[in-house]
Amino acid sequence: MTESKINDLLSKMNLDAKIGQLNQYFSRGHFDPEIIRQGKAGSVINAAGALTGTGESKSSTAEVCNDIQKLALEGTHKIPQFFGRDVIHGYRTIFPIPLAQAASFNPELAKQAASVAALEATATGIKWTFAPMIDIARDARWGRIAEGNGEDPFLGAQMAAAVVKGFQGDDYSASDKLIACAKHFVGYGAAEGGRDYDAGEISEPTLRDIYMPPYEAAVKSGVGTLMSAFLDLNGIPASANRRLLTDVLRGEWGFDGFVVSDWDSVRELVHHGVAEDEADAAAIALHAGVDMDMVSETYLSTLSASLQSGKVSQNDIDEAVRRILRIKLRAGLFDQPFTDPDRVTRDLLRPNSRTLARQFARETMVLLKNEANLLPLDSSFERIAVVGPLIHARSELFGSWSPDGRATDVTPLDEALKQIAPAGMKLVFADHADKAVHVAQSADAVVLVVGEYPYRSGENSNVSDLSLPPGQAALVETVATLGKPVILVVIAGRPLAITKQVAQVQSVLYMWQPGIEGGAALGEILFGLESPSARLPVTFPRATGQVPIYYNQKNSGRPIRAEGPFKSRYVDLANAPMYPFGYGLTYTTFEYANLKVSSETLRGKLEISAEVTNSGKRAGNELVQLYVRDLVGSLTRPVRELKGFERVILKSGETRRVTFTLTEEALAFTRADGTKGIEPGNFQVWVAPNSRSGLQASFIL
Ligand code: NOJ
Repeated sequence: MTESKINDLLSKMNLDAKIGQLNQYFSRGHFDPEIIRQGKAGSVINAAGALTGTGESKSSTAEVCNDIQKLALEGTHKIPQFFGRDVIHGYRTIFPIPLAQAASFNPELAKQAASVAALEATATGIKWTFAPMIDIARDARWGRIAEGNGEDPFLGAQMAAAVVKGFQGDDYSASDKLIACAKHFVGYGAAEGGRDYDAGEISEPTLRDIYMPPYEAAVKSGVGTLMSAFLDLNGIPASANRRLLTDVLRGEWGFDGFVVSDWDSVRELVHHGVAEDEADAAAIALHAGVDMDMVSETYLSTLSASLQSGKVSQNDIDEAVRRILRIKLRAGLFDQPFTDPDRVTRDLLRPNSRTLARQFARETMVLLKNEANLLPLDSSFERIAVVGPLIHARSELFGSWSPDGRATDVTPLDEALKQIAPAGMKLVFADHADKAVHVAQSADAVVLVVGEYPYRSGENSNVSDLSLPPGQAALVETVATLGKPVILVVIAGRPLAITKQVAQVQSVLYMWQPGIEGGAALGEILFGLESPSARLPVTFPRATGQVPIYYNQKNSGRPIRAEGPFKSRYVDLANAPMYPFGYGLTYTTFEYANLKVSSETLRGKLEISAEVTNSGKRAGNELVQLYVRDLVGSLTRPVRELKGFERVILKSGETRRVTFTLTEEALAFTRADGTKGIEPGNFQVWVAPNSRSGLQASFIL
């Protein structure tokens, strides 16, 4: 049905109409209605300011989009517009940043959050989001680590699939569903030195087994679109890589949606030095498999002449148009091109969306240290000083990519804590260092809130030093020397190297950027209404010099645990991270015992189980993790790989056996020649609370 409709449309379109569909228009502050009327854009990117000049008298974005849509439908070719925007971790209801979402190890919550984002964004006329960002990141200097799910391909794939489902549902023609865009295909997280837009070298096995699984999962979940990266990967800029965009994505994985370039990245092929000029760049990108040109307008300005000169083929143009029309048809845009403007009054910031945001924020905060069970703070503490530069945080709780969040929707952190503190506990506040010392001196305990402002992470926000921002380490030191119990709360978009601060304080709660309900969620954790349950989705380095650092590293010929002085190590720093992947504490403790493997040999599948006991005094929530190691392979294998996780909620003293099923396919890996398969041999397996501990057994494949 869709395909015959596409053929019908294609047969009626002249070359200009076709090329127009391949162009994504950005108004640069002066919206030109003729671009739409004449069919010179297949999509309008609704980035900040893109609609300026279109509807000063309009009260809502939905009405502006409807006006543009009318222009498109009255115009020469009558193909509906497709409005795209960066709806990354919420539209108006801002959820925790994606890295924090991954810390929940709760894909279902991520799915629900994406579904709320879809409801809200579609109410304003947006039908396409440039999310999820699913790039694996092993280098916290890279600002965009905030936008992804951390370092692990297994967790990354689960989150990717869930978020795609949340945005799109099972049928994205529904008026409250968004088309997702998995980005940035592929390997963008490996940009050298943690610098955006840069180059990276990734071997084929690592590309396949580390960087690609989230993409494959997104494609399996039916993602409608993908975005090609800015990255120069192994010498081929992503928007020029036909092998990846066409052979792998379409050929191997069967993706039938369309690929949009990243911003201006088609034209940038000239800067990369793989294209002579814009015409060359457009021809290379189109042939590689980039269907839509995000804002560079090189397709619009060069493809017609390039077709005439034989530089591009009619087939390449038709295929790209076909894919774009396919998604527009599946999105129901031809039947329902307009948005009911009244929806904004109904669908934004619904109470249950805020409730979900609060739950999600709670489930993303990682308790890293809790000496002598200082947390939760109970009413035996009469006076708490809450100090630090971020105690009035409102939009600072959002993190990067939250263009539609509003500070006025947020209860400031200090207010939220006051509302949640138990009766009889007095909170006193100070945001400046001198006052902080003063109020801390008269308090029973200090909550010290430090960290990053939102735009210190995200796109174009890389750092060369993972320390706390200037001045904050000194503040921690000053407050710590007062001798009061100190709880360090860190708001951040990346793992920061806080080794020294961890040693100076009694408790550390890593809050990331928790979103619109972050203040209340923090209060619920600090005052014990809820327990922390999140785990690190990324390794925390001791110092910047350790990066790139990740748990699933290779053993090397001279691992640090081997005999003798000549080892893979630093002379001035331990190899071990500050905190490993998967790590996180809660207000109770858990013991692992009686590991069982259902057979010595894995044939098809194997069951691995362990007893987990809540050995503390409070009820609690434990994320039980399954890791394996393939001891000998035709290629070196990671020292551990996550293959499963499961959450158990146990009362004090309660024991439960947690069982995982490990399949043969889960042990397959990509070999040097590019083929993927299993290799018989000995394996180790762990049921563990994090990637550096746990109970260990063996099996044979
Ligand atoms: C550039 C970013 O790399 C990409 O993630 C984003 O979606 C586009 N700009 C559009 O804003």
